[in-house]
Amino acid sequence: MENRLKWFSEARFGMFIHWGIYALLGRGEWVMYLERIPKDEYAQLAHKFRAEQFDPVEWAAMARDAGMRYMVLTSRHHDGFSLFDTKFSEFKSTKTPANIDIIAEYVEACRSAGLKVGLYYSLLDWRWDAYWKGPVNDPKGWGSFLEYVHGQLEELCSSYGRIDVLWFDGNWPYTAQDWRAQELLDKIRRLQPQIIVNNRTGLPGDFETPEQHVPWWSPPRRAWETCMTMNDSWGYFEGDRNWKSPRQIINTLVTIVSMGGNLLLNVGPRGDGSFPPEAVEILSHIGEWMRVNGESIYGASGAPFTSSVGPVTAKGRTAYIHALRWPGSRITVARVGNSVLSAHLLADGRKVKFRQEGDRVFLEGLPPAPPDPYDAVIKFELDSEPKAFS
Ligand code: GLC
Repeated sequence: MENRLKWFSEARFGMFIHWGIYALLGRGEWVMYLERIPKDEYAQLAHKFRAEQFDPVEWAAMARDAGMRYMVLTSRHHDGFSLFDTKFSEFKSTKTPANIDIIAEYVEACRSAGLKVGLYYSLLDWRWDAYWKGPVNDPKGWGSFLEYVHGQLEELCSSYGRIDVLWFDGNWPYTAQDWRAQELLDKIRRLQPQIIVNNRTGLPGDFETPEQHVPWWSPPRRAWETCMTMNDSWGYFEGDRNWKSPRQIINTLVTIVSMGGNLLLNVGPRGDGSFPPEAVEILSHIGEWMRVNGESIYGASGAPFTSSVGPVTAKGRTAYIHALRWPGSRITVARVGNSVLSAHLLADGRKVKFRQEGDRVFLEGLPPAPPDPYDAVIKFELDSEPKAFS
């Protein structure tokens, strides 16, 4: 694995934040497009952007306490509103009553919390006619549009110190050539040699980005990260009550790690910058679980063992059996090609009795009730790195 990606694959869990002036309307980040709000009308929202409750230190603390190791914030989404003091646009957070360079404060807060710093950037911008007309129909306009896009990315990569992830989006429907993506990535890497970028410029970049799903049937053969919402929306959507349970999210995280990927879990702060209380609650439960079971996530990936209770993760000579469904007194782990030296529950540290026969390990005398409400993890110490029975 390339060294640049080392921290990323160890981290496994990050926080995505979609925030912009659309949050003031509370109907998601696509509201301008979906409700066909004219550019000038939409721009009025900037006058109402006060960010009264914006507290990036609090954001970072919530991410860290949930067990996340990095954050990715929308520096500019499709609506064109920049959360930083760009010289390429007047439609930005420093030209609002809030008058804050959100990105500057955010990167500072991430670093102080020991989190890696990620920036999302949408190549497309609905406010530019050239974006709609495209490079073929409006070569001149497209040229100016690209100066703006490339210029903003150069600003982001040179004004805020070290940036760890650039999370591109919105390259559709144009090609990497249209965006002059290679030139852009070269420039970015000159400014930030260690940076990693995703695959949404039309070029492969460093990692893949399955959206809203676990890539069951074809896990990428290189670094990947599923991004997922906590309800059904990225940007704050007041009426969206379809929150996932902490249990569902932990299940997804564990499954993704067992497949060698990362989870980037989204929060859509409200217009004032505060996290919705439902998100805070969910994060706190995930955090409780991560404090006890985090070692089965960080730096872990899959193991060739199988069990009916849930996936198995592993690192070094350790395997972790994730009991997402608690079967009562007995759990069977199969295809084990190692000798198991010891087994115990992460939830309370108690030793688990086991018997190994052929490729199967029978865990016995387990408590009838699940020792963890979401996922009780049983840790195996092995004689060598996990190998499938043959
Ligand atoms: C989709 C949405 C966009 C969101 C992104 C996150 O592409 O269109 O609004 O930012 O998903 O991956």
